[in-house]
Amino acid sequence: MADKVVLAYSGGVDTSAAIPWLKEKYGYDVIALTFDVGNEKDFTLIQEKALKAGAIKAQVVDVKDIFVKHFIFPALQADALYEGQYPLATALSRPLMAKMLADVAREEGAVAVAHGCTGKGNDQVRFDVGIMALAPDLKVIAPAREWGMNREQTIAYALERGIPLPVTKSSPYSIDENLWGKSTECGVLEDPWVEPPEDAFSWTRPLAKTPAEPEYLDIGFERGLPVSLDGKATDGVTLIKELNRIAGEHGVGRIDHIENRLVGIKSREIYEAPAAITLIKAHLALEAMTLSKQQARFKERVASEYADMIYNGLWFTSFHQDLAAYVQSTQRHVTGVVRVKLWKGNSAVVGRKSPRSLYNFSLATYDKGDVFDQSASPGFIQIWGLPVKIQAQAQLLRQPEGPLSIPGNLPARRKGRGKKKAI
Ligand code: ARG
Repeated sequence: MADKVVLAYSGGVDTSAAIPWLKEKYGYDVIALTFDVGNEKDFTLIQEKALKAGAIKAQVVDVKDIFVKHFIFPALQADALYEGQYPLATALSRPLMAKMLADVAREEGAVAVAHGCTGKGNDQVRFDVGIMALAPDLKVIAPAREWGMNREQTIAYALERGIPLPVTKSSPYSIDENLWGKSTECGVLEDPWVEPPEDAFSWTRPLAKTPAEPEYLDIGFERGLPVSLDGKATDGVTLIKELNRIAGEHGVGRIDHIENRLVGIKSREIYEAPAAITLIKAHLALEAMTLSKQQARFKERVASEYADMIYNGLWFTSFHQDLAAYVQSTQRHVTGVVRVKLWKGNSAVVGRKSPRSLYNFSLATYDKGDVFDQSASPGFIQIWGLPVKIQAQAQLLRQPEGPLSIPGNLPARRKGRGKKKAI
């Protein structure tokens, strides 16, 4: 009996060609594993395709709930945006897929796993490192990284073996989709000067076609997790789907990102993430009400580390556990409701309330009811400003360049100079 390999199978050209290739090159029997991460494909059709391409078994796993609970929501609580822009949809799905590949490989007694990534991207790193962490004895094969065929050659290779080509009409782009967002690259998008054509978008409407009237939504959070929409308790998967639809109609969540890949290249990716952008903004607004200044400032630094950790394929690490522990701890009072206004490509936070709010009306108001003791301010300012006063007298006011110049940077202005005579 031949050894087995479990292949992460999307139904696209590369992973379809990989099925006979793994058989021919390595002599493996291929088990195709397809993930339902909310990308709404016809999974039965994909299963049939895998079998037609020669897989001995084709399995589809619905991982939507796990994806939301253990990957998306923790990233939302962290406010993770890679380089301040990308909500990490693709990056978050890879460690989950690596885990499932390892699990199924064990169940099936497979000796290897395989994925469709090329040798240029981040995803190969995320898959490979995930498997290295969870099942280091398994061999990891990336056919598209090894076979040295271009697109046409791959298609020809598949056709020669009677493999049905993509069920959907082929797109000029490389696309990856799941609940948290859609990633689109290649084709004309590779020219960073070219505005993304409308056909690069499918989750979000162009502004010219968004509703003329705004739409308001109340998003309820409990300990940093979104739990309701307009007061109605909603499970995570449904809530994200709903928000993708509603915010997408208003053109919210288009991102055009020149990003730094882990493998050292800059690439341009177009993202659509209506739910992710709306939820992260709303979550940040609730944190602004319920976290102290120091907590919020430190959390911002953690957020950027957290995003890098996810992007760079370091999901299964103690570093992750440590960051996650901090994030979890910060969420214990992040409970309340945020009102967002979706309109013309923007999701604006227009209201927020929380039973644990640190916003105190009596302290903030300029109207009657003010309890802030203004007579205490001069004393505070005396002490706050003391080191500033001392330093100004001892140093800044004694600089020949004057108090505001940075020595060595600005030329000294001397009397009689600096005025140019008009000729
Ligand atoms: N640049 C994103 C990342 O590294 C997405 C990668 C997949 N993109 C795609 N269009 N297939 O996470």
